[in-house]
Amino acid sequence: MNSSRPCDIRIEPFTRDFYEAYVNIHAEILPVQYPKGWYDSFFTNDSRVGLVALDMSLPAESRVVGFCTGRVELKERGCLECIFKCGDKVMMHGYVMSLGCRKSHRRQGIASRMLGVLLEELISRGAERLYLHCTTVNKGAVALYRKHGFEVVEKLLEYYHFHGKYHDAFKLSKKIPPNQANDRKRRHHAA
Ligand SMILES: CC(C)(COP(=O)(O)OP(=O)(O)OC[C@H]1O[C@@H](n2cnc3c(N)ncnc32)[C@H](O)[C@@H]1OP(=O)(O)O)[C@@H](O)C(=O)NCCC(=O)NCCS
Repeated sequence: MNSSRPCDIRIEPFTRDFYEAYVNIHAEILPVQYPKGWYDSFFTNDSRVGLVALDMSLPAESRVVGFCTGRVELKERGCLECIFKCGDKVMMHGYVMSLGCRKSHRRQGIASRMLGVLLEELISRGAERLYLHCTTVNKGAVALYRKHGFEVVEKLLEYYHFHGKYHDAFKLSKKIPPNQANDRKRRHHAA
């Protein structure tokens, strides 16, 4: 654990100002590389949300110390009872696409803060269920997601391929209570 805590961490939307730093920090922290179009999609696709964590005590060019991205998407409801009760054949899912924090800044609650902001945003955009994937060996990330109410719902063998081999993944999911989801949806549409 780091002994010094940065005094001023800000969580802000991913904008073009942070483009290069965002690409670099993803490449530094994650084993999976994304194409340029993936980053561009945050400016052209309303269903996507990107966040940066900035350490304001650092010089401007090295302030980006964390990232978190997600999207909302329509999914078929799996359960016939839901279709009859709610009349909806589809529901909105929120998916956490990426999350990471620079090594120098870990265990200071930064990823947790970013994830909290991201989940609120996905819920405000209508997500009724949240989900994500994570390698089964990533105990730290799984602990973090559990703290945010996620549960492991599936183990997917050889889901990822990186560093020349396959890696198993957990699918984790979190259900948003209907009242909470609807309240937030109403507030979002009223804003
Ligand atoms: C996983 C990761 C995002 C956590 O970032 P972080 O800013 O250090 O996380 P936080 O400080 O917000 O941690 C919040 C809680 O999550 C859990 N946690 C986080 N990292 C942990 C670790 N290495 N071991 C055990 N628990 C951990 C703890 O419960 C922690 O609370 P605590 O510090 O009070 O015990 C970071 O280690 C990282 O970037 N890893 C590489 C990329 C990655 O694995 N991303 C997730 C892909 S699914």
